[in-house]
Amino acid sequence: MRVLVTGATGFVGSAVVRRLRAADHDVIGLVRDPARASAVAATGAILRQGDMREPATYVPVVHEVDAVVHAAMLAVPGRLNRRRADELFDADAVMTRALADACAEHGRRLVYTGGCFDWGDHGEEWIDESTPLTPSPLGVGHARMAAELERRHRDDGLDVVRLSPGFVYGPGGLFASAFVEQAEKGRLRCIGGGQNWWSCIHVDDLADAFVAALERARPGTAYAVVDDEPLRLRELTDLVTDAMGGKRVGTVSPRLIGLLIGGTLVASLTTSFRIRGTRIREELGWAPRRLRFRDHVAETVEAMTVRS
Ligand SMILES: NC(=O)c1ccc[n+]([C@@H]2O[C@H](COP(=O)([O-])OP(=O)(O)OC[C@H]3O[C@@H](n4cnc5c(N)ncnc54)[C@H](OP(=O)(O)O)[C@@H]3O)[C@@H](O)[C@H]2O)c1
Repeated sequence: MRVLVTGATGFVGSAVVRRLRAADHDVIGLVRDPARASAVAATGAILRQGDMREPATYVPVVHEVDAVVHAAMLAVPGRLNRRRADELFDADAVMTRALADACAEHGRRLVYTGGCFDWGDHGEEWIDESTPLTPSPLGVGHARMAAELERRHRDDGLDVVRLSPGFVYGPGGLFASAFVEQAEKGRLRCIGGGQNWWSCIHVDDLADAFVAALERARPGTAYAVVDDEPLRLRELTDLVTDAMGGKRVGTVSPRLIGLLIGGTLVASLTTSFRIRGTRIREELGWAPRRLRFRDHVAETVEAMTVRS
């Protein structure tokens, strides 16, 4: 296959590029700045420069490929408040609609990246693909696109597959910036009581799920992509500090940390997502190599320390 990957320099997108290349697929990686994309180029992927808010920079690529993975997310500086979240959702809507139109026109598969915030808070209840999307503040944009893409599949036969990962850990992303780096600076705190559930997935296992979705998913299907053991945020935080050989940290009130990092982000991080990912295992034969966060957090942190 030849695949266009948007957000090819991102935490998720770069892992997808590496896995596709390892499976001998050709990749065109959409990047904002080719000068900062040497790691993507080193995989043998072809670079295209573009901006998600400017469809003319990427729509013409769609007819050159067999499928598209959309893993770009607008970079928004500073506190993630409602206004910035709206900018992020608008950019996603522009790109998703433009890619969906082009994929429908040329008969290409679109793999859309949703996320764990799309379901919203479900307390102690288990979530799966049949759970209605009542999103957390940061899931609003993805949930809106999920409904649109479902409609386009039903009405126009768009070949779309949606993957909704849990919290993605690995050497980057929120795992690095919100946990490991904060712990290194002595600033990590558990937000609130931490009794909310988080389902996790390692970034390389998620990348394998993208390859499986590209190669063999049924058009129009949505898949949750999570490992086997959801954790409460308190335990997840403790596992990180234990893995780093540090002391367990105290808590911070959601209101206080919201002043620093933005209430929209905090309201999402404190929701409970306890996700069951049976469908992708049964339908695509995918299973994570890392079954439980607790068994792999130490090696992940270790790999990050070696790299930095
Ligand atoms: N990380 C998680 O825990 C997680 C969990 C569930 C779902 N997701 C979903 O996965 C997707 C990707 O997330 P991520 O964690 O990989 O994010 P990320 O690391 O921030 O990557 C975002 C990517 O989008 C690119 N980008 C930013 N602004 C752009 C623009 N204006 N035009 C074109 N490209 C632009 C970035 O390029 P630069 O490198 O140039 O900035 C980067 O390649 C998102 O939809 C997110 O909601 C993530």
